[in-house]
Amino acid sequence: MDGVVFRRAAEAESEALFALLCTAFEVTDEAGRQRLRRLADEEWHDLVVLVEGTQPLAVAHVEPHRLRVGACSVLKAEIGHVAVRPDRQRQGLGTRLLQEIVAWLPAERFQISRLGGWMPFYQRFGYEPFPRRYVTIPVPAREATLKGTPWRDLLAAPTGKQGEVRLYDPAHDFHPVHRLRLAAALRPGALVLPTNPGLPPALGPDASKPVFVYLHDGSIQGYLRGGLARLHAGDPDLHYCLDELAVTAWDPDAVGALVKTLMARAAEIAPTEIMARLPYDERLCEALTAAGIPFNLLELRQAWDGNMMQVVDLYGVLRAITPELTRRLREAGCCPWQGNLEIRLPRHSAVLRLAPDTVTALQKGTPEALLEMSHAAFIKALFGIQGLAECAPGLARLSGPQQVTAGILFPRLAAASGAWG
Ligand SMILES: CC(C)(COP(=O)(O)OP(=O)(O)OC[C@H]1O[C@@H](n2cnc3c(N)ncnc32)[C@H](O)[C@@H]1OP(=O)(O)O)[C@@H](O)C(=O)NCCC(=O)NCCS
Repeated sequence: MDGVVFRRAAEAESEALFALLCTAFEVTDEAGRQRLRRLADEEWHDLVVLVEGTQPLAVAHVEPHRLRVGACSVLKAEIGHVAVRPDRQRQGLGTRLLQEIVAWLPAERFQISRLGGWMPFYQRFGYEPFPRRYVTIPVPAREATLKGTPWRDLLAAPTGKQGEVRLYDPAHDFHPVHRLRLAAALRPGALVLPTNPGLPPALGPDASKPVFVYLHDGSIQGYLRGGLARLHAGDPDLHYCLDELAVTAWDPDAVGALVKTLMARAAEIAPTEIMARLPYDERLCEALTAAGIPFNLLELRQAWDGNMMQVVDLYGVLRAITPELTRRLREAGCCPWQGNLEIRLPRHSAVLRLAPDTVTALQKGTPEALLEMSHAAFIKALFGIQGLAECAPGLARLSGPQQVTAGILFPRLAAASGAWG
């Protein structure tokens, strides 16, 4: 592979990369070609390539996503569209591209990385299987009955406040909706939104899109963004998705009115199921139940083909989140153990220095306690998807005070879903 060079793509390569992506993914339909055209033309700055002379041989999309950890955030590299020119596949170029990307990410200040794909291939580069979370909402046919009562009537049951749901009107609703979305995006694991959203788009409501607002007493108190999409590439069926729900409070009236409006839309293809990317938050679960909406919490644990993550800069992650860890210790009002805790993952280690008033991150330091775990376990604890005590069996080997302190730092939280799985 002499003469093959890895680098960021250049704008002038857009056309060649568009052609490479279309042939590698065998995309011939117009909608698919348009998606790849947008990727090559508008997001070329997030593409990386292997080139031989001036010829691109392989490409991948490396999209920066900032994910919330309390008051702090970490930078995730979202890898997608990994493609090798068909006549050069199975010669080690895909392997070379992934090796180069994983080595390059920390220098580009990325701290963790996610991708979805053929798992036996990507695990060679350090990615580990990672769960995905959905809330699924069954949508029965309207005339179907439950113990003699039609679903049409069950789902039309009035709510207490009688707020109003209408289509989202970007020109008018943009700023109040952005404020709701900002507040919702504070939960751990959520995508960080820009605080300044810019100017509202000059667009009116679009009845073809299931995007709604909930108003009560004339003010917008809820926002729901849904869509009709394929869940996975190649999936023959379209599903209604609920991609975002932001409300002022987990109030059954607001949650119920918005979700039932989407259910009424999805009833066009009933019986079906809405695949929702909602947080696993007990207050949301209780609001759905109070609104009379049955639902399932579905955590996918994929094999062969699926979601994967890894840490690419452990010290960078710890350094980024020490203000939040310090806040957690101070709020707990106690620090049962003080000292250097080494966190060791495959290929990475770093140290947290714990004192009652501050947590600091060190690249190296004499450890007084050692906690070994997988990348997946660390990332679950990072976002509170699981508490450290659940996902890191090694915690049981630490002393009681060490375990309690680690539990204060990394508890289970009402984490967002979607941005990491
Ligand atoms: C997947 C792809 C990038 C791999 O690149 P490559 O240069 O052929 O890969 P390499 O020669 O370095 O390695 C080949 C390995 O990739 C594995 N592989 C990777 N992705 C695979 C997939 N989707 N299906 C089957 N095998 C896959 C093969 O099993 C093979 O494993 P082996 O070494 O045990 O034989 C390339 O085949 C491609 O562009 N495919 C079309 C686009 C695509 O499906 N992209 C992946 C999206 S997740």
